[in-house]
Amino acid sequence: MMNKNRPVIARAHTNIALVKYWGKQNENLIIPQNDSLSLTLDQFYTDTTVTFDPTLTADAVLIDNEVAQGSDYQRVVDFLDIVRQKAQTPDRFFNVNSVNHVPTAAGFASSASAFAALAAAASRAADLKLDLTELSRLARRGSGSASRSIFAGFVQWHTGNDDETSYAEQYASAADWDIGVIALTLQKSRKKVSSRQGMQLSVTTSPFYSEWIKLANSDIEQIKQAIDQHDFTTVGHISETNALRMHALTLSADPGFIYFTGQTIEMINEIRQLRKMGIECYATIDAGPNVKVLCQKENASKIMTHFNQLLGSENVIYTTPGSGIEYLEK
Ligand code: PMV
Repeated sequence: MMNKNRPVIARAHTNIALVKYWGKQNENLIIPQNDSLSLTLDQFYTDTTVTFDPTLTADAVLIDNEVAQGSDYQRVVDFLDIVRQKAQTPDRFFNVNSVNHVPTAAGFASSASAFAALAAAASRAADLKLDLTELSRLARRGSGSASRSIFAGFVQWHTGNDDETSYAEQYASAADWDIGVIALTLQKSRKKVSSRQGMQLSVTTSPFYSEWIKLANSDIEQIKQAIDQHDFTTVGHISETNALRMHALTLSADPGFIYFTGQTIEMINEIRQLRKMGIECYATIDAGPNVKVLCQKENASKIMTHFNQLLGSENVIYTTPGSGIEYLEK
């Protein structure tokens, strides 16, 4: 039985990968080449309302109060097709209203929180009763990193080798961790090489790709040990090294491509300079030019003051660890 006309609202937070996912072994199912490990963040989230509407003949999708069109619309419909298939209701259509509280200024991709929230709201609106592992698998089909946004704290996405075995789960809570992330915005526009394209090029043409897999696997083991020991220095060191190695795959692809701008490099140098001065912080960078700074709460205001002066306070946003998927009542 369908949950007729009852809106289901879900909230998911975005996450930052400390050991990155970069490359797929299965494009269609979004099975990655390596395990990744992230931290879910508090300040940035997506609220998505999904309502089954028997009068619709196609899905109706609003994203940030605008009617979704073109490839943005198609991506949501393709995802809802998976939900319809699972629920065995091919002719049910949904109203989707998705609001991102991920300031464009933060330079975070909203796809992780967006598809995690959509997976939770749409599956419930379709009367599918999924546990968190099943939700993670479903979110993965929308965007790989969304599989991790189902959970709070430090989250590991297991590579697996098929739909069943590729899912995320919490590795450790971050509730008792003294850790924060400062997002530095250098550019707000959409990236030129999508992560999908970037991964494909890296997997098929970078001569370093097989090394990346070996290193990422050992990074996962080492960062988990460091998390167990509450060792911020090692967590930060592995995160920065791993991010730069991911970007080395883009530089070494053919044709090569670069997500960094000159300012990205300047910010990495600033972070290293702060470290030399005894203020511990580490850089991580996703598929774009913006830099995230990992730090301990006690140093956050000093680091923010430094970057406020360089970039303006509107381009410097602080966030702490966040919660996993939740359903909201209207
Ligand atoms: O989930 P996607 O397709 O947006 O890819 C995410 C890729 C990175 O953000 C660069 C790394 C990661 O693990 O989140």
